[in-house]
Amino acid sequence: MSSTSIPTLQSYASDQLDKAFKELGAELDHETAALRTPEDREQFRLRWLGRKQGRLKSISDAWLKTAPLEARKALGIHFNQLKQQIEQALESGSAADQAPATVTDSIDTTLPGIRPGHGAEHPLIRTMHEIVGVFERMGYSVGVGPEVETDYYNFESLNFPPDHPARDTQDTLVIAGQEQKPLRDRLLLRTHTSPVQIRTMEQQPPPVRIVIPGKVHRNDAADATHSPIFHQVEGLCVDENITFSDLKGTLDHAMKELFGSSVRTRFFPSFFPFTEPSADVQISCIFCGGKGCRKCKHSGWIELLGCGMVNPTVFEFVRGKQPAYDPKKISGFAFGMGVDRIAMMKYGISDIGLLYSGDLRFLEQFA
Ligand code: DAH
Repeated sequence: MSSTSIPTLQSYASDQLDKAFKELGAELDHETAALRTPEDREQFRLRWLGRKQGRLKSISDAWLKTAPLEARKALGIHFNQLKQQIEQALESGSAADQAPATVTDSIDTTLPGIRPGHGAEHPLIRTMHEIVGVFERMGYSVGVGPEVETDYYNFESLNFPPDHPARDTQDTLVIAGQEQKPLRDRLLLRTHTSPVQIRTMEQQPPPVRIVIPGKVHRNDAADATHSPIFHQVEGLCVDENITFSDLKGTLDHAMKELFGSSVRTRFFPSFFPFTEPSADVQISCIFCGGKGCRKCKHSGWIELLGCGMVNPTVFEFVRGKQPAYDPKKISGFAFGMGVDRIAMMKYGISDIGLLYSGDLRFLEQFA
């Protein structure tokens, strides 16, 4: 049969259609079995699928034009099946081409190879691992929590009541279409990793020693030191007789581990709703050793993280699920630090945006 001849269709009755397409299918099978080389397949493809002269096109032109309305759907289905059969024949053929057995003959082993690129840890992830490692060596476990969080965990249970002005410092994106839900159940992108403190305590009674690395979001305009996405490592330690001295000792040790043993720390009064008292921790400037330079704005100190003693109000939020968090019997401290900032200091990165740009010229420096 020449490539232009079109089989005759006796009528559009379904048994006739079945018969005609069965014959076409058999013709295809026959031709498929004879395909050997990529050239064969290209001929076959043109013969059947060619846009202008292809058999499929000619047959469908001839048959569809005169087809009564009620036969069109069946015709369409048949044509689709036929087309699939052709495509499968082509695919399985070209897959066979790539099979090693046929390819080895054509490989020129004298050609230079392509060196595969080596992956490397992103500076942020590396810093996060370093920080987490410091606390793991002090006996802390590691936890994670969801990045899409409820208002309750992100704010309310951390003692940011609805309408509390402290919420303004952590504006974020909220998931749309939740006006029907009570405020506490509404979803938002978490603004800090602190909600995982509550999630952890709800899951286990004291003692707790845990660090939680993760991604957080804020409605901050991007500039050299701000990004609407950044990373934090949260810490929580709860047990009997945990004091502010434990907090100071732990963080002083952690900063020395991270920045070198000559680094000193100092604690300044601060405010966070979920800790009382709260403090900001400063470290002696790692660039000038404390003498004063541009990096520390000539103060000799760099502010690095927030911390404090867990506010008894926070324990009260957890007690419904874990009665052992009785603020009369236990106490704890918490802290939270920005990973991006620490990575930038450690590696001398001046623009936070570089951490998110995916620019290989930047990233390759860490490989
Ligand atoms: N969540 C705070 C923030 O993002 C950081 C923080 C401060 C965490 C004090 C703490 C803490 O656990 O005790 O600004």
